[in-house]
Amino acid sequence: MPLKTSPQDSRRASADGTAAIIMAAGQGTRMKSALPKVLHTIAGRPIIHYPVRAALEAGCAEVVVVVGHGREAVASYLAQAFGNRVHTAIQEEQRGTGDAARAGLAGIGSAIQGVLVCNGDLPLLLADDLARVLRALRDDSRGAELALATCELPDPEGYGRVLRDEKGDVLAIREHRDLETDAERRVTEINPGIYFASTPFFREALGELRPNNAQSELYVTDVVAFARAQGKRVVGVHSRAEVLVGVNDRTQLVEAEVVMYERIARAWRKEGATVRPGARVDEGVMLAADVTIESGACLRGATVVGRGTLIDVGCVLSDVTLGDAVVVRPYSVLTQSTVAARAQIGPFAHLRPESVIGEEAHIGNFVETKKTRMAKGAKANHLAYLGDGVIGEGANVGAGTIFCNYDGIQKHTTVIEDGAFIGSDSQMVAPVTVGKGAYVATGTTVTKDVPAGALAISRVRQDNKEGYADRLRARFKAHKDKDHKEGGKG
Ligand code: UD1
Ligand code: CA
Repeated sequence: MPLKTSPQDSRRASADGTAAIIMAAGQGTRMKSALPKVLHTIAGRPIIHYPVRAALEAGCAEVVVVVGHGREAVASYLAQAFGNRVHTAIQEEQRGTGDAARAGLAGIGSAIQGVLVCNGDLPLLLADDLARVLRALRDDSRGAELALATCELPDPEGYGRVLRDEKGDVLAIREHRDLETDAERRVTEINPGIYFASTPFFREALGELRPNNAQSELYVTDVVAFARAQGKRVVGVHSRAEVLVGVNDRTQLVEAEVVMYERIARAWRKEGATVRPGARVDEGVMLAADVTIESGACLRGATVVGRGTLIDVGCVLSDVTLGDAVVVRPYSVLTQSTVAARAQIGPFAHLRPESVIGEEAHIGNFVETKKTRMAKGAKANHLAYLGDGVIGEGANVGAGTIFCNYDGIQKHTTVIEDGAFIGSDSQMVAPVTVGKGAYVATGTTVTKDVPAGALAISRVRQDNKEGYADRLRARFKAHKDKDHKEGGKG
């Protein structure tokens, strides 16, 4: 099936000689979590994934992530996701964003001419948002020293405000708690936390920071006032507020995630897949054309879906590969499994890890598989546990069949060869093999191999006692009456 690159790959901007410093050392107190803020996930990836990817896609030659709280976990995620394209710098104590930027600056190479400093809690940030800030500085005809993104927020509570002079140039950024006048409080233009300047400027400006503010921290935002004090110009680049508001609490986390899921869905719709509202297709999932993902379905991890496949309402798929024209009926759960073309799964099926379902095979309701291979056209349509099985082509597994794969110590394999028929309510006590075309009668407990073409039957012969039903009822009734009398006396 054709693999497509992520629909969110955006045009690379020219950022040669530029390093990005992404500040992610904070704990994120308002999340009230044991997990560092930037490791909370949005559409299946930690928050930090997105600004890092944006910086890489913008063409930054180096990306340095400043880590502190939960640094091992953050660094290990980055190494796993981005390898050696990203490195980390440690901020020992969280003494503010200015201190974080300093730590990052110490970690960049000597060939770097320009530095992009960016908050790490911006999951909706795209390469283009960074590229616009870069271009604003480079294209500025009046020789600006520093560029930063800004956005308009009707409710700017909590954010640093962008203060401008009468010419419209940025004068300073004032943190919410440091606001001094009513005029400052009325400013609705805020600082989302994206700054770009030359390396020498940052070295000097960050070196001059002092903790003279309400929080006694070093503020990276003070580089604005520093530039102005040196008679330099600072440009503010109007940016899209809906993608540049940071995640500080759980409400902002889920709000950002709603936007992210809709962004991913829209991109797949453009590629010819129907992704219904309320379906959650995580970042990294691949969909072919003519796929339909119904509401409430969750597709996670490295899931790949083939052409024309339907994933119905409420299914949860994690790291699953589906071929073309597969049907996954409602409320099925599939994990680390493979399903070949035209197979039908569910409703209410459970494919556990290492299940491999062949072409045109059927797995019906309340069937659970685990580490089971099912060949082409094989069927298990109702109520079964098929663990550690190898099921041949066209075999039929009846309702209520159980592969007894575990003896309390070890797992054992059940082999059902091509065309075999397993009658309902049978138990396969593994290790055991049912030969090609063999027949297992309903209700059989299979404890030894069944030769090809044989019939296996292991049940007590039925005995009909004529007229016995009424005698039985009379006896049961007598028991009941006796119990009642005794109960009454007591
Ligand atoms: C910061 C800005 C504020 C802006 C807001 C946007 C400053 C002083 N203020 O405030 O103007 O409106 O972001 O969301 O920069 N971090 C570190 N080390 C630290 C402190 C923070 O790495 O010592 C990281 C955090 O992990 C986070 C980012 O820097 O990713 C921003 O920190 P946060 O505490 O959220 O800053 P705000 O107070 O929101
Ligand atoms: Ca913030």
